[in-house]
Amino acid sequence: MHSLLVTGGAGFIGSNFVRWVLDNTNSTVTVLDAMTYAANEASLVGLPEKRFQLVRGSVCDADLVDDLVARHDAVVHFAAESHNDNSLDTPGLFIKTNIIGTFTLLQAVRKHHTRLHHISTDEVYGDLELDDPTRFTPETRYNPSSPYSAAKASADLLVRAWVRSFGVQATISNCSNNYGPRQHVEKFIPRQITEILDGRRPKLYGSGLNVRDWIHVDDHNSAVWTILERGTIGETYLIGADGELDNRTVIELILELMGQPTDSYDHVNDRPGHDLRYAIDATKLREELGWQPEYTNFRGGLAATIDWYRNNESWWRPQKEATEAAYAAKGQ
Ligand code: NAD
Ligand code: DAU
Repeated sequence: MHSLLVTGGAGFIGSNFVRWVLDNTNSTVTVLDAMTYAANEASLVGLPEKRFQLVRGSVCDADLVDDLVARHDAVVHFAAESHNDNSLDTPGLFIKTNIIGTFTLLQAVRKHHTRLHHISTDEVYGDLELDDPTRFTPETRYNPSSPYSAAKASADLLVRAWVRSFGVQATISNCSNNYGPRQHVEKFIPRQITEILDGRRPKLYGSGLNVRDWIHVDDHNSAVWTILERGTIGETYLIGADGELDNRTVIELILELMGQPTDSYDHVNDRPGHDLRYAIDATKLREELGWQPEYTNFRGGLAATIDWYRNNESWWRPQKEATEAAYAAKGQ
C-alpha cells in the first residue's frame, strides 16, 4: 500500500492505526475525519509532515469522498459514531454516519476500483449467555441489540452487497473491545482510570457481571494491516485475543493497580438493553493469515494504559467535565 486513506483517523483506534502504519510501513496516510466530539487532534501531533495529512470533512460528503478515494491506493474505514450509550440518546446520528457514510464510501471505491477494508465490531452478533461455551465466528448469525450495533451491522451488509453485486475489492473485520492509549473518557476503562485520578469512585453499570473480550488497540491494528495485505477479498475476519473478563473484575484490577481498595466503586444505573457477553473465536485470522496478538498479558497492558492517562492529562482533561455531566444526568 503506497497511499492510504484512513477515515475516522482522529479517533481512538484510527489514530493508533495511523501511528502504527507510519512506524511499521513505508505508506503515506491521509486522515479524513469530521472532528466530532470523539476526535482529538492531539492524537495526531508530531506525525511526519511528508507522510501524513489531516483532511477535515465527513464520510457522508460524496464529492469530498470521491475526490480523496480517487487519489489513494486503499481505504481503511474506521469513521463511525462508536458509543452505545450515545446511540440510545441520538440514534439518527448513528444511522447517518455509520450507514450513509459507509454507503458513500462504497460508491466511491466502486467507481475508482479502490481496495477497501471496513472496520466493524463483534456487537453485530448480539450477545451470549455467561455459560454459553460457543464464541462468535464469521458464520454466527447477525443479531444486533443497540442502535449502534444495528447501524454497524447494516454497514457490514452493505459492504457484502457491494462486493457481490459490483465486484468491490473489500474485506471486513469484526473486533472485540479495544483498550489502550488515546481512548475517549466516555468509554469504560478510561472513564474509571480518570475518575480515580480525579479522586472519585469508579462506576459499574448494573451487576457488573457483563463480559467483554479485551484486546489491545495495537493488536487490533496489526490484525487490520495483516488483512489489508493478505486477506481474501469478500471475506470477513474476526479479531480477538482471548481476553474475556467481567466488568467487575476489570474495575477491581484498575483499583488495585492504582493503589485503591478494590471495593471502592459504586453501582450505577444499568444500560438499557445491556449486552451480557461477547467472545471472539479468531481461529480463521490466526490460521489463514498467521496473525498473533502481542499483548497477551492484560494486567501489563492495563498498567501501561493507566500510566498513559496519568502522564497525559492535557489530552483527556478537556473532555472530562462534559462527559461526566452527561452521565450524571442519566444516573450513571
Ligand atoms: P471513536 O469514537 O474514538 O472515533 C471515531 C472517529 O470517527 C472520530 O475521530 C470521529 O470524529 C470520526 N467521525 C465520526 N463521524 C464522522 C464522519 N461523518 N465523517 C468522518 N469522520 C467521522 O471510535 P473508535 O473506538 O476508535 O472506533 C473506530 C471504529 O472501530 C468504529 O467503526 C467502531 O465501530 C469500530 N470498533 C471499535 C471497537 C472499540 O472497542 N472501540 C471495537 C471494534 C470495532
Ligand atoms: O465490542 C466492541 C465494542 O466495544 C465497540 O464496537 C464499541 O465501539 C465500543 O464502544 C465497545 O462497546 P461497549 O459498549 O462494550 O464499551 P463501553 O466502554 O461503553 O462499555 C464496556 C462495558 O462496561 C459495558 O458492559 C458497559 C460497562 N460500563 C461502561 C461504562 C462507560 C460500566 O460498567 N461503567 C461505565 O461507566
